[in-house]
Amino acid sequence: MDLYKAIVRPLAFRLDPEFAHHLAMMAVNSGLLQIKPVTDIRLSQTLMGLHFANPIGLAAGFDKNGVAIDHWHKLGFGFAEIGTVTYIAQPGNPRPRLFRLPDEKALINRMGFNNDGGLEVARRVKASSSMIPLGINIGKSKTTDPADAAAEYEDTAALFANLGDYLVINVSSPNTPGLRLLQAPAEVKKIVDCVRQSSPKRKLFLKLSPDLADEDLDELSDLSLELALTGIIATNTSTARGMLATDPHQEGGLSGRPLKEMANAALTRIARRTMGNLMLIGVGGIETGDDVYEKIRLGAHLVQVYTGWIYGGPSFCRKLNLRLLELMYQDHAKNLDAVRGALL
Ligand SMILES: Cc1cc2nc3c(=O)[nH]c(=O)nc-3n(C[C@H](O)[C@H](O)[C@H](O)COP(=O)(O)O)c2cc1C
Repeated sequence: MDLYKAIVRPLAFRLDPEFAHHLAMMAVNSGLLQIKPVTDIRLSQTLMGLHFANPIGLAAGFDKNGVAIDHWHKLGFGFAEIGTVTYIAQPGNPRPRLFRLPDEKALINRMGFNNDGGLEVARRVKASSSMIPLGINIGKSKTTDPADAAAEYEDTAALFANLGDYLVINVSSPNTPGLRLLQAPAEVKKIVDCVRQSSPKRKLFLKLSPDLADEDLDELSDLSLELALTGIIATNTSTARGMLATDPHQEGGLSGRPLKEMANAALTRIARRTMGNLMLIGVGGIETGDDVYEKIRLGAHLVQVYTGWIYGGPSFCRKLNLRLLELMYQDHAKNLDAVRGALL
């Protein structure tokens, strides 16, 4: 019996979602939650000079402040991404700002980059020692004028110089007014150029929205290649609601099961355009090992999970990795390289 789904989740889901999130963070941070790891050479990869024991990472937004960096490997994650961190500490949007859609296995959030600010989070990263590759996701502070955004991204990146393994430029959250306008190619170029001033050797990822038109995805894929970025993370949450059976009429970004198709469509488009020349991290709607396998066969090198993890509980990564191994066995795949892009 799955104790999480039978007992813990029904109790936790009676609580306010943000309070439940807070309790979950406390549980992770206690260091007591520990899942038997799946260690299998077929799941391991060396990418961008980093070792990943398995391809499943924690998506940005769960550990926004980097408070549990030392513990994510204990839950079976192959890597973790903290943030979004902004230069200025900020409280985020008024509550309530996180909503469950249990029938759709989805969430809607309009958190608005609540975080302790770059200085404090960088201090925490410095004091931690992650056992797995660590990404740092940065965004624009709410009060910063969009015209000054590139300079602010540079300042935030500088706070994390030599910290973590890769940096993510987040221009795709729907909950900071004007942020997604920074997905315009000229703006992306400006931000990347600025960040590189202070962090010339940084591994840089761009995190994109699933709501971009195909032509925009093509243009941003081309630009990412031209700028020699390390990769793209596809995707963030969506403001679309057409895929919901019942729309709760809450503003914010939709994640989880209803996002999967859109996120996979964006990943496919980017993978076809970049043809293996960029690292791709697939995120959006992963619930099962089959979903992980699908994203890898659509060209992802790594994947990330958030909403599925909330619904799935502490053993989520283990289950996904075991299922992934089953699927690889069926296809006689010796490693993830052998199946990557098979559906393109
Ligand atoms: C409550 C919540 C907060 C999030 N906060 C961030 C964030 O701060 N930065 C970011 O890049 N993505 C954030 N995300 C988006 C996730 O990282 C991920 O891209 C998205 O939820 C799709 O994955 P999923 O369907 O597995 O949840 C957040 C998602 C949720 C549900």
